[in-house]
Amino acid sequence: MKRKLFLNAYIAAIGVATLLVIGFAVAAAAHQVDSAHWSNATILYAAFFAILSMIASRQLLYYQPSSQVAMGTAAQVAAIVSLPLPFALLAVAAGKALSELSLLIQGKRKARAVVVNIGGTLLANVAGGTAFHLLHGGQFLWSSGLTPLLALPAFLSLSILYHAVDALVIVGAISLSSNESPWRAFRDMALSVFAPHLSLGFVGLVFAVLWHFSPVLSLLIMIPIWLSMRSFQAVARLQRETVEAVLKMAESIDYRDTGTYEHSKRIADMTRRLARSLGLTPEHISDIVLASQVHDLGKIGISNDILLKTGRLTDEEYVAMQEHPVIGEEILRSYSAFRSSATIVRHHHERWDGKGYPDGLKGEEIPLGSRIITVVDSFDAMTDDRVYRKGMSVEDAVQRLKDGIGSQFDPRVCGAFIQMLIDEGVYTPPETHPDLLRLVRESAAG
Ligand SMILES: [Fe+2]
Ligand SMILES: [Fe+2]
Repeated sequence: MKRKLFLNAYIAAIGVATLLVIGFAVAAAAHQVDSAHWSNATILYAAFFAILSMIASRQLLYYQPSSQVAMGTAAQVAAIVSLPLPFALLAVAAGKALSELSLLIQGKRKARAVVVNIGGTLLANVAGGTAFHLLHGGQFLWSSGLTPLLALPAFLSLSILYHAVDALVIVGAISLSSNESPWRAFRDMALSVFAPHLSLGFVGLVFAVLWHFSPVLSLLIMIPIWLSMRSFQAVARLQRETVEAVLKMAESIDYRDTGTYEHSKRIADMTRRLARSLGLTPEHISDIVLASQVHDLGKIGISNDILLKTGRLTDEEYVAMQEHPVIGEEILRSYSAFRSSATIVRHHHERWDGKGYPDGLKGEEIPLGSRIITVVDSFDAMTDDRVYRKGMSVEDAVQRLKDGIGSQFDPRVCGAFIQMLIDEGVYTPPETHPDLLRLVRESAAG
């Protein structure tokens, strides 16, 4: 309830800030129209950049199969370096507002998100644009061209400030509408989008310079850019479809083995939360989560007699069963999207004490992702109801995890997992053992 109130106040504040910026920009632009003879052309250019920014905001650039940024950033940077700041801000605001409102009308955007997105973009351009114009001596492309020595630092500060303010505004809304810690949300967002934002800013800069020399040429250049974007999108779609196909294949193994499609999903959810609580980077987390979804894919090569056997496996059967991480790795290696996950899959049955398989790796020789999956997979296997037996209670499963610290499990990972179960209310340490976490932490330290 309280959070909702804060969220509404936050969105209202962004809305007010947006209107204030627009008001100031209109007043400043009107003043410049009165006092300068080039203003008619500037208004025309501003209108052009508003339309460009609106179109570009709807074009998505895929930099990973499931991650994309809107091309709007490029058009906004082009406007900022080309025009006097008030005109540039009005062009940006108009372009972004038109694109967001069309999404709102089509039911693809909620009203709150529209306010946050327009506000975030405009405030980002105010910050970045002010830095650019200050560092570039108040000059812009249309009046006096770019001074190369000043333009580079000015452009870099524009990009960094633009990016930081845009991320801050959006992260504020995310952390108020979810349990996400603001710092973590900011770090994740800033890390993943910075490089694409910077390169889009550069595209904007190059476009503006070209436009300045030859508008026709700059428009012609957009054709190959648009075509290559289309092919990037096609490649990204193909990669997403490949990932989906492999995940479906892994799901079907889950069903054959554990009798539930939910196994992979549960493991992936827990793995994601655990990896986040260990403070890993978004890229590392997504590799580990992907690996967790397909960790037992290699069971595709294990016969049902062995896979579904409820009794003890014979030595030969056990050896055959131990092949599954290697088979899984071999299958996954052939897909570029799974290349980093393949190694994690290979080692998900290694043990901290070096007695695991297939390679008998020890301690930190084992990839961190594999150590995470080992803990989560063991917990899920213990607590899950199978056809032939009922799942263990959470308390008993945690006890088993505790017993395995330092032998089967990485102490730090296992400690973080138990802490996560406590924080999420899944597990309550018994009154008589309030020192559980101390034990876990001590073993982590030792
Ligand atoms: Fe396995
Ligand atoms: Fe499993």
